[in-house]
Amino acid sequence: MTSQGTLGTSQGTLDGKVALVTGASRGIGAATALRLAREGADVAVGYVNGKEAAEEVVRAVEALGRRAVAVRADAADADEAAGAVTAAAEALGGIDVLVNNAGVGVLGPLETLSLADVDRVLAVNVRGVFLTSQTAAARMPEGGRIITIGSCMAQRVPGPGGTLYATSKAALAGMTKALARELGGRGITANLVHPGPIDTDMNPADGPYAAGQAAMTALGRFGTADEVASMVAYLATASYVTGAEFAVDGGHTA
Ligand SMILES: NC(=O)c1ccc[n+]([C@@H]2O[C@H](COP(=O)([O-])OP(=O)(O)OC[C@H]3O[C@@H](n4cnc5c(N)ncnc54)[C@H](OP(=O)(O)O)[C@@H]3O)[C@@H](O)[C@H]2O)c1
Repeated sequence: MTSQGTLGTSQGTLDGKVALVTGASRGIGAATALRLAREGADVAVGYVNGKEAAEEVVRAVEALGRRAVAVRADAADADEAAGAVTAAAEALGGIDVLVNNAGVGVLGPLETLSLADVDRVLAVNVRGVFLTSQTAAARMPEGGRIITIGSCMAQRVPGPGGTLYATSKAALAGMTKALARELGGRGITANLVHPGPIDTDMNPADGPYAAGQAAMTALGRFGTADEVASMVAYLATASYVTGAEFAVDGGHTA
């Protein structure tokens, strides 16, 4: 019996592969960039404002013996969202793994959400993911992997204030399944990871709403960015998993 791709253990399972991680200057994206580099990938580190932070991640990837490049692209801009893929592929010689991680969260009562909020959240969390995936799929060889970061709020919304964010993240479930069907014939997979409360700038574990979120998980705590990155690393190597959704949420949706 042979084994191809085990859950985040073996060194070098992504040797020779190129990955683009959007929103990799901090949080879940930065942890994912480093994790994929540890597995052997060269990594393009996407960012929009955090140039210095992105360059720090680039240096950390290089310290692991992999190639890296920082790629600036505003996911809310259609040309830039697609252009991130082109820039990454040109700098590193192709693209094998796309991690659609960049995202924004605008939470609040329905009546407070402006048209600008709606447009921005859908542009970054949905349209940007669509365009980046479309551009990457056109360049990916057989064995390509598209992994998108959704949210536990796509599956269960535990209280008021999440209408816009949950709408954007739920759209990714349909997109992922359709991508899986569209690209399966070329040996390319598409999967969706739903984090629960994860300690990052977006959702700090010592923030004002943290205790309530932790209490809603079965494990009674926030997760770490590394815990999400482990699932992404698994999906980057898994060969018979596609069109699927994975909760990494400490039991938030249990
Ligand atoms: N943390 C949680 O509890 C949680 C839970 C469920 C799902 N998620 C999802 O996980 C993903 C990462 O979240 P995180 O907590 O790591 O967030 P974070 O700490 O706020 O980091 C966000 C990252 O996305 C980038 N970004 C933001 N807006 C962008 C834009 N318009 N164009 C390109 N890049 C942009 C940021 O780049 P700059 O540094 O350049 O600004 C940064 O690298 C998001 O999709 C989020 O919705 C997070």
